[in-house]
Amino acid sequence: MKSFRSLLAVLLLASQVIAAPAGTATSSAAESTPTVPYASDDPNGILWSNSDDVVTTLETLEGSTKPEPMRGSLGSTVIGPQNVALDLMNPDALAPPTTDEGAVPAFKWPFSLSHNRLQTGGWARQQNLNQMPIATAIAGVDMRLEPGAIREMHWHVDAEWAYVLKGNLRVGTIDPEGRSYIGDVGPGDLWYFPAGFPHSIQALNGTDGAEFLLIFDSGSFSEDSTFLLTDWLAHVPKEVIAKNFQVDISAFDHIPAEELYIFPSAPPPENLESDLVVPNDTPIPYTFALSKVNSTKASGGSFKVVDSTTFNASTTIAAAEVEVEVGGMRELHWHPTEPEWTYFIEGQARITVYASSSTANTMDFNPSDIAYIPPSYGHYIENTGNTTLKFLEIFKSDRFQDVSLNQWLALTPPELVKAHLGLDDETISRLSKVKQEVVGPSN
Ligand SMILES: *[C@@H]1O[C@H](CO)[C@@H](O)[C@H](O)[C@H]1NC(C)=O
Ligand SMILES: *[C@@H]1O[C@H](CO)[C@@H](O)[C@H](O)[C@H]1NC(C)=O
Ligand SMILES: *[C@@H]1O[C@H](CO)[C@@H](O)[C@H](O)[C@H]1NC(C)=O
Ligand SMILES: *[C@@H]1O[C@H](CO)[C@@H](O)[C@H](O)[C@H]1NC(C)=O
Repeated sequence: MKSFRSLLAVLLLASQVIAAPAGTATSSAAESTPTVPYASDDPNGILWSNSDDVVTTLETLEGSTKPEPMRGSLGSTVIGPQNVALDLMNPDALAPPTTDEGAVPAFKWPFSLSHNRLQTGGWARQQNLNQMPIATAIAGVDMRLEPGAIREMHWHVDAEWAYVLKGNLRVGTIDPEGRSYIGDVGPGDLWYFPAGFPHSIQALNGTDGAEFLLIFDSGSFSEDSTFLLTDWLAHVPKEVIAKNFQVDISAFDHIPAEELYIFPSAPPPENLESDLVVPNDTPIPYTFALSKVNSTKASGGSFKVVDSTTFNASTTIAAAEVEVEVGGMRELHWHPTEPEWTYFIEGQARITVYASSSTANTMDFNPSDIAYIPPSYGHYIENTGNTTLKFLEIFKSDRFQDVSLNQWLALTPPELVKAHLGLDDETISRLSKVKQEVVGPSN
């Protein structure tokens, strides 16, 4: 019925163009008269599931059941080579919603495609400008340490923010005034080390060790270019090392000739207090127990915001940990000045980014995938799976900020909104003057 209406609109418009003498305005100020056709009524839902169930039945897929780049009457089958596994996971790339248009620079990167660095005791894989040129403000590293394993003592030019995915760790730093801080973190907790602060990271004892997401406040950061304790000393004349520490040169007979990076070790003592050389004396802590913060409930899920107003040390990174129930979504919104680096922890999602200039692209996301959404790009994050969707929104900023489309419309004079969108009073009355953040399935 509605598509008939939009056809009618096109016809009406065409007749106006024909009927109106050249240069005559056809719009009425009292109520909005469409100067362009209505948008399509196609709901543009996801065309096939990218759930684990489907992927595991890949072998049974044949001919007509494989994903095809077809939506309604558009497109056609693939008869050439096809990577069916990737197409199953990317339904909105293979058969985009008809609302997509133009080309947004690639804004998805799966950590699964990052080259991994395997070491004795763990591994690390990264995403920076080399993987995703759009991601200029932030780079990310996914790191794994076996129980007791150490990410070698080091420092770097960019600040480091971290989110613990699994397991427990002990981290420590000293500031330029020589004050020290050592803290323990568990799943869902954070740490932050300002640019150039030296630090240590070690997995505590436990069956599995730990895995964590590291975030750096520069897209050009490289995990392979950090300043390492062993690498430095391997590149200083031994005579100078002995003089520096005022000991005999033989004391340094066993320093490594090259960097250790990640290596196994005995776990530190369970009790943090017994591991402190001096009591913690930095003015602010460098770890934050986000796992202990109560989430804010929303109609379609919940969220936690953490920035320098609560985690004072984190002056360059702000974040939100978001959970979206089945059928719900992170509402249409944008972030005024900061790009969003998104990391998917659980569930399945799709995002359409609107890049102005009639340009919008949709992509699908699975756990461990990354999205990068430039500042002011309008977007939503929809739960397209059958389980809770959980993800992190990360920003290079001391504050979390977003603008909600729904709230903006609700706080704008209704006649002005009606003039743009032709909404009726019932719809206007349902706009929300408070930010929703996460909404449930539509009703
Ligand atoms: C680590 O845990 C294992 C198994 O629970 C235990 O045998 C071992 O003594 C622990 N090591 C330390 C240093 O706590
Ligand atoms: C968090 O929620 C729990 C359970 O609802 C409640 O007992 C506790 O007081 C809350 N904590 C804070 C800091 O609000
Ligand atoms: C952290 O920052 C908030 C807001 O700026 C402030 O109220 C609070 O006192 C700070 N906490 C510490 C420990 O400095
Ligand atoms: C969700 O569950 C329903 C019913 O069990 C099933 O038909 C559907 O394919 C599932 N969708 C996904 C995305 O797994």
